[in-house]
Amino acid sequence: MKRIGMLTSGGDCQALNAAMRGVGKALYNCMKEVEIYGFLDGYRGLIYGNYRLMSSSDFSGILTKGGTILGSSRTPFKQIKNPDENGLDKVEAMIKHYNKLKLDCLVILGGNGTHKTANLLREEGLNVITLPKTIDNDLYGTDMTFGFQSAVDVATYAIDCIHTTAASHGRVFIVEVMGHKVGWLTLNAGIAGGADIILIPEIPYDIDKIVDAIKTRSKRGSRFTILAVAEGAISKEDAALSKKEYKEKMKNRLHPSVSYEIAAQILEKTGQEVRVTVPGHTQRGGSPCPYDRVLASRFGTEAANLIMNDEYGYMVGIVNREIVKVPLAEVAGKLKSVEPDATIVKEAKMMDISFGD
Ligand code: F6P
Repeated sequence: MKRIGMLTSGGDCQALNAAMRGVGKALYNCMKEVEIYGFLDGYRGLIYGNYRLMSSSDFSGILTKGGTILGSSRTPFKQIKNPDENGLDKVEAMIKHYNKLKLDCLVILGGNGTHKTANLLREEGLNVITLPKTIDNDLYGTDMTFGFQSAVDVATYAIDCIHTTAASHGRVFIVEVMGHKVGWLTLNAGIAGGADIILIPEIPYDIDKIVDAIKTRSKRGSRFTILAVAEGAISKEDAALSKKEYKEKMKNRLHPSVSYEIAAQILEKTGQEVRVTVPGHTQRGGSPCPYDRVLASRFGTEAANLIMNDEYGYMVGIVNREIVKVPLAEVAGKLKSVEPDATIVKEAKMMDISFGD
């Protein structure tokens, strides 16, 4: 008999349900006796003891459903060791509920912050297995996170739609793409959507280089230019500031995001009309694409395998197309960024895509 706890934490993404289904179906199918407890709304459910015993039917009919059947929330790692407003020690509370239910393991689905807390629980002696989810694809130790490819689809579709209207009006368009501090999503959606300029946090931009690229296109007879701009894109000037100086500057920023700032600068320097489109959370929504359904199912069944073999303290990942288990201690807290001189960046530049550098 195995007793498993499960939770989804942090920003949601597509294929969370597909991953949980993979765990549930494999465990129910391969083990004689298993109980799965679903904690509601991420770590919050584990802290405050909000959970429900799940049945095999909970894992049916959810493969294609976006979101998470368990709910999610953000419980910042920075505050995890601070007591809550009623003085409750959150870490102690999580351990208490784990022990009360006599769990053999916690399966935790999440991104970067979630992994830091999962690793803390491992250090506290709990058995933990994690599954890497996020549209940002920024988790160290895995080539791919589930949610990413689905988000690439949504962001690409946004750029595709902009293409037709940009061509009609002869305007400059900016599509702001999510991705937090990394540029994977923007880079991939930008190339897939045929963006002319791609700006990612890993390659700070020079506004004059962007303006040059727009002018060159105009001279060549192109009526429009499309920029795919990562929400975390940063100018060379700002990248040179200290963290403190940058934070201070951001507090006083006149524009709601970097895209609007770039739009204002392009208008000022070229006189060209610029429009900004922000697909925002639509990039995390809707049904997972087939790639993510398969990836999440494979991650889920590998988690079940590890549970059946009593192997804990791992994140399941994919490296060179092979499903792998990576020690949590080696991945927690590390970010996987785009290398500025990565082959994919060089290839994009060969196709005359400007990175504004
Ligand atoms: O980490 C996923 C993500 O969607 C990022 O791309 C984005 O910066 C962030 O979450 C948005 O967070 P929230 O949903 O809390 O606004």
